[in-house]
Amino acid sequence: MEAKRRSSLRVAMPEGDRPAPEPRRWADVDRYYESALTASDPALEAGLRASEAAGLPPIQVSPLQGKFLHLLARAVGARRILEVGTLGGYSTTWLARALPPDGRLVSLELEPKHAEVARSNLRRAGLSDRVEIRVGPASQGLAALAAERVPPFDLVFLDADKVGYPEYLDGSLRLSRAGTVIVADNVVRGGDVANGATVDPSSLGVRRMTERIAAERRLSATVLQTVGSKGYDGMTVALVVEP
Ligand code: SAH
Ligand code: DHB
Ligand code: MG
Repeated sequence: MEAKRRSSLRVAMPEGDRPAPEPRRWADVDRYYESALTASDPALEAGLRASEAAGLPPIQVSPLQGKFLHLLARAVGARRILEVGTLGGYSTTWLARALPPDGRLVSLELEPKHAEVARSNLRRAGLSDRVEIRVGPASQGLAALAAERVPPFDLVFLDADKVGYPEYLDGSLRLSRAGTVIVADNVVRGGDVANGATVDPSSLGVRRMTERIAAERRLSATVLQTVGSKGYDGMTVALVVEP
């Protein structure tokens, strides 16, 4: 499973397709902690197999990252979770399992095929009653939720196209309350995010989101840089505070 998880963010492989020493060490340590701290999980594993068989890109969060999101949701007592970017529902499953039986997760996904695979995976995991996947551009999904005046979400996980991150941050804030935690995945871009002259659209998306966070009195934020089976990356963690 690990070897198949590929990423455009992964550190370049030297000749012979053997992982460079550092990334190999990161993946080894991920495997060690995964086996030490997470139980074998038939529903999650079947979901990954189904996603792969359906040809979805293997870019879901790692198992340990999924568990981090799960524990964060439990730690904040989340009853309502918003996800932007479903893919095959892997992170969705980790997050939805943190909900009480009457909790709710809404996940926004552009690709109908991804949503279909995710729905099937969530059904297998017994989570269909708690999870609603809405198909369409996340910008529209966020606007629709605001128009519906849904109650605020307790936790938001941003993980769709990085170009959209500034807009998704704004949309999430409108659906938040003081105490809401907003997490954004893939905010390191192989280090390019720190390059003030970058023209990479994804890096620019992350930088613009970061500028908005910095300028927003209702947000206090940090970034966790990470290494592991997905290479080098990181997540922004922002808390909505009383202004
Ligand atoms: N959260 C998933 C991974 C998501 S990958 C996990 O960790 O398991 C990113 C997803 O965002 C893809 O499924 C992609 O189709 C979706 N996406 C890309 N652009 C989008 C947009 N504009 N609106 C909604 N979803 C989008
Ligand atoms: C990739 C990884 C992600 O976690 C994601 O959300 C989008 C893309 C990637 O490795 O390409
Ligand atoms: Mg991601």
